[in-house]
Amino acid sequence: MGCLAPLPAFAEAASPASKLRPQIGDRLAFATGARAGQPLAASDVLRGTAPIPAWPLDASGLLRDGSRLNRVHVLRLDPAALSVRAAPNAAEGVVAYAAMCSHAGCDVAGWNAETRGLVCPCHGSEFSAEDAAAVSKGPATKPLAMLPLRIENGELRVARGFTRKVGFAPV
Ligand code: FES
Repeated sequence: MGCLAPLPAFAEAASPASKLRPQIGDRLAFATGARAGQPLAASDVLRGTAPIPAWPLDASGLLRDGSRLNRVHVLRLDPAALSVRAAPNAAEGVVAYAAMCSHAGCDVAGWNAETRGLVCPCHGSEFSAEDAAAVSKGPATKPLAMLPLRIENGELRVARGFTRKVGFAPV
């Protein structure tokens, strides 16, 4: 199981557009690493590798990184393995899930390659990446939100808004 980078601190004075939830047509951009802020091509997302942290990127090139609720993890799965709930929101096997855990709000930063599970390091919840982030191990009781994707000219684009409200119930 691999761990992804921790979340950055909140921006002090984020613009309203940077706080908006992902909009239809937004691209996605790397959230971390040497290519942070650059658009994510479908070809950047390889099968068998850990999820890539990403932010939505609006048409003007503004990152929607003003809210933790906008951060997603992007990964590529076998399209044939996707459940009927997940498949309509995937683009050639590429899926995106909200990074914020539905249990208590930690970053779901771990990855179990064997089970294709998104793992939260705080209390060990696991979410099935092949099944629309359904809970496969608690204490979380609700799935992660899925961000529907499409591919346009090789770039990943937001196809629709999150499938459910991002966030967590107070514990
Ligand atoms: Fe993720 Fe508790 S915050 S399992």
